[in-house]
Amino acid sequence: MLTDASGAHHTSDSAFHERATDRLVIRRFRTEDASSLAAYRSDPAIARYQSWDIPFTDAQARSFIDGIAATNPDTAGEWFQFAVVEAGTGVHVGDVAAGVDADDPRLATIGVTLATSARGRGYASEAVAWLLDYLFSERGKHRVTADCDVRNDEVVALLDRLGMRREAHHLQSAWWKGEWVDEYVYAILADEWLERRSPG
Ligand SMILES: CC(C)(COP(=O)(O)OP(=O)(O)OC[C@H]1O[C@@H](n2cnc3c(N)ncnc32)[C@H](O)[C@@H]1OP(=O)(O)O)[C@@H](O)C(=O)NCCC(=O)NCCS
Repeated sequence: MLTDASGAHHTSDSAFHERATDRLVIRRFRTEDASSLAAYRSDPAIARYQSWDIPFTDAQARSFIDGIAATNPDTAGEWFQFAVVEAGTGVHVGDVAAGVDADDPRLATIGVTLATSARGRGYASEAVAWLLDYLFSERGKHRVTADCDVRNDEVVALLDRLGMRREAHHLQSAWWKGEWVDEYVYAILADEWLERRSPG
């Protein structure tokens, strides 16, 4: 437990197991997710704007999953990766992640990845909407941000669709895969998200 900038105590969510949305289960990663994780992380279209190099091997996927096994969501200064699973089939189709600010755990940053085969059905929208509900309603976050390469059209469309606000266009703010890239920063406040979820 630590004390955040407001003086409030902050404890990570060690009780988190899994949650259901309309069509998805969002849960902790398991060892058996390694091959599906390696498969979608090795897709050049998915890796293009992300931090890892391809191929992303099964061994890397296993060590990634082992490495996060003991971590909990909403831990100050850490990212937590949630597996996204299609409820009807049990197929692991992607992940969402939230990183909590080290100095003020009322602030978080999010990310999302979906296997190409699972695109175009609104799964990413559903998973990120769940993540925003979780962060704001259950974990008391004040502000959530997301940043992305300005050329990443699908994620730009997703963040716009969710009602996040584009607050910044940083020029050549990150060195990714051998080049300087421009990044957008999107944000949404708790009040804005909760109003959006229950208008009126
Ligand atoms: C970003 C990413 C997750 C978006 O995936 P996506 O499938 O486009 O997004 P959704 O799952 O929300 O699906 C939206 C599409 O499904 C359609 N759709 C169908 N049913 C829908 C529903 N019930 N709700 C919302 N959209 C629905 C939408 O119209 C939209 O179609 P369009 O792309 O033709 O406009 C995906 O492109 C990705 O993984 N990219 C690579 C990883 C990456 O770069 N991540 C960013 C790092 S933060």
